[in-house]
Amino acid sequence: MRQRKMRTHPMGERKMKVSIFGASGGTGSLLTERCLAAGYEVTALVRSPETFQFRERVRVIQGSVFDADAVRRAIFTGDEGADVVLSALGARSLKKEDVLERGVPLIVAAMRQTGVRRIIVLGSAGALSDSLKKQPAWRRWFVQKIVYNTFLKWAVASQISQWKTLSASGLDWTMVMPPMLLNSRARGKYRIDGEALPRGGSRIAREDVADFMMQQIGNPQWVGKGVYVAY
Ligand SMILES: NC(=O)c1ccc[n+]([C@@H]2O[C@H](COP(=O)([O-])OP(=O)(O)OC[C@H]3O[C@@H](n4cnc5c(N)ncnc54)[C@H](OP(=O)(O)O)[C@@H]3O)[C@@H](O)[C@H]2O)c1
Repeated sequence: MRQRKMRTHPMGERKMKVSIFGASGGTGSLLTERCLAAGYEVTALVRSPETFQFRERVRVIQGSVFDADAVRRAIFTGDEGADVVLSALGARSLKKEDVLERGVPLIVAAMRQTGVRRIIVLGSAGALSDSLKKQPAWRRWFVQKIVYNTFLKWAVASQISQWKTLSASGLDWTMVMPPMLLNSRARGKYRIDGEALPRGGSRIAREDVADFMMQQIGNPQWVGKGVYVAY
């Protein structure tokens, strides 16, 4: 892995710079909160700064992830690039919004242009066809046919696209792939699997996902890979 030296923030050293996409969403706001608590310098691309709860403590770039210039400004802050990019982007509906299809290629392009290499994204267990191989047959059938192919059709298509874009990016990417997200409190204990969704794993709290994503900053173990997390 070619990774830039990660910056910490002890006295006299410059703060770690993090760019967050989807910072106003369920998981993204937890990531933002955690980055601020860690003392990182946070830049967030948000569509509606006026309702963004962290607007006073974060460098806000107003715009959509469909705007290449705004994306670039969110990643290349001041006169240098971010140390790490975090994304918890997603459609706000079950309809076809193409957020990841259109947005992730622009993030990758901006990172390549500016020499920023590390990106950690919120993906989904639905992104890969063999993600259910550790599930019992009845559950594999139900989740694939009823959930992924119908109810979550567009969300899954977006995640497949995100996987393809990152895989071809040449960047130091990690895609964290949970099953259903909950707004419950973190348990701090969950299964981690680099091959497929752990058997019977059907949910996990956004708080645990955000904690796991934070732990990937500076961790080379899952670079260039997807990783499943579930209770
Ligand atoms: N829900 C689940 O059970 C589940 C399970 C597994 C994986 N996932 C994946 O998790 C992701 C969603 O996570 P979440 O539920 O925590 O997020 P969320 O609450 O739905 O928030 C989505 C974020 O994306 C932003 N966004 C959407 N379109 C944008 C655009 N054009 N430009 C800039 N920002 C945009 C939203 O900004 P605004 O505030 O401006 O709308 C918001 O910050 C999706 O990718 C989904 O596939 C979800």
